Amino acid sequence: MQRVVFVSAKCEGIPDGINLISDATVHFVHLTEGRTLLERIGRCSAAQKASAEGVVTLLTDTLTAADLIEIKTQLPRLKLIANYAVGYNNVDVDAARSSGIAVSNTPHVLGDATADLTLTLILMVARRIFPSALEIHEHGRFAGWSPSYGLGKDLHGKTLGIVGLGVIGLRVARRAQAFGMKVVALQSLRSAADSNDEVVRLPEEQFLKETDVLSLHCPLTPQTRGWLNAARLGKLKKGSMVINTARGDVVDETALAEALRSGHLYGAGLDVFCGEPVVSEALRGLPNLLILPHLGSATAETRAAMGGRVMDNIRSLVTGNPFPNQVNR
Ligand code: DGY
Repeated sequence: MQRVVFVSAKCEGIPDGINLISDATVHFVHLTEGRTLLERIGRCSAAQKASAEGVVTLLTDTLTAADLIEIKTQLPRLKLIANYAVGYNNVDVDAARSSGIAVSNTPHVLGDATADLTLTLILMVARRIFPSALEIHEHGRFAGWSPSYGLGKDLHGKTLGIVGLGVIGLRVARRAQAFGMKVVALQSLRSAADSNDEVVRLPEEQFLKETDVLSLHCPLTPQTRGWLNAARLGKLKKGSMVINTARGDVVDETALAEALRSGHLYGAGLDVFCGEPVVSEALRGLPNLLILPHLGSATAETRAAMGGRVMDNIRSLVTGNPFPNQVNR
């Protein structure tokens, strides 16, 4: 029987068609038509579905417990869902485990790209780059140099507060330190991966009180959903900034919009937002808000490396070895 892996969409570093992996012939079938992953899988041939052992998913493919029961019915040999992302909140990993399906992610390869983008957002918001560039872009000129034109905020001497000091958070910390910022991290969301002495960890009250630029790098979990709410925003200093390159749902967007509108926050920069790809009404038209279209890992090198992580797990699927990046062991 041929071995089949379904691939949600064309991804850097993941082949299409017939490939030889450890002496096994594996057919990578790229899914094309259909709104949801299940619909697209449903359109594949019965023979492909009967022999599919793996599915490569994107962060935009949501798989609930009910979807996983359905997927297992359609693909009885399914053993691996390889998510082409480090975040895996789009898959109910516990339900997958109960159905005997391993879920893997792409850790340790997108830290630098995402940290670079985080610093880009911090700089753009602090120095109000976007409105100034837009003025030139739209009018072919600017009002003219004056002592008070285009004033932003300095970063050196300010405190960056990191929520989620993992691979990405730590890289953001190092970059910010190079800009002369003091860096602190939130203690209560500390994970086992945080074992380093580079960043001071503070309890929540003190963390919020001391932070000038709050940057979110935690995964989306039931504990972090809506974490940055009105109460916590209210405890940040007046004139502080919020940056989110994690997941949109970590932030209560209505509360964020209000904090921006009232001027309590100086500005915010979001690379992720609730309900992507459509920005909610609440966040539209705010001059001190910069929103990017989920570009954190969007470099050719990083996307190829993410494909490499996916392929490591598919290789293990083929050879029967433990999956190197399984998140639901
Ligand atoms: C991820 O891998 O989780 C990122 O959000 C993709 O940019």
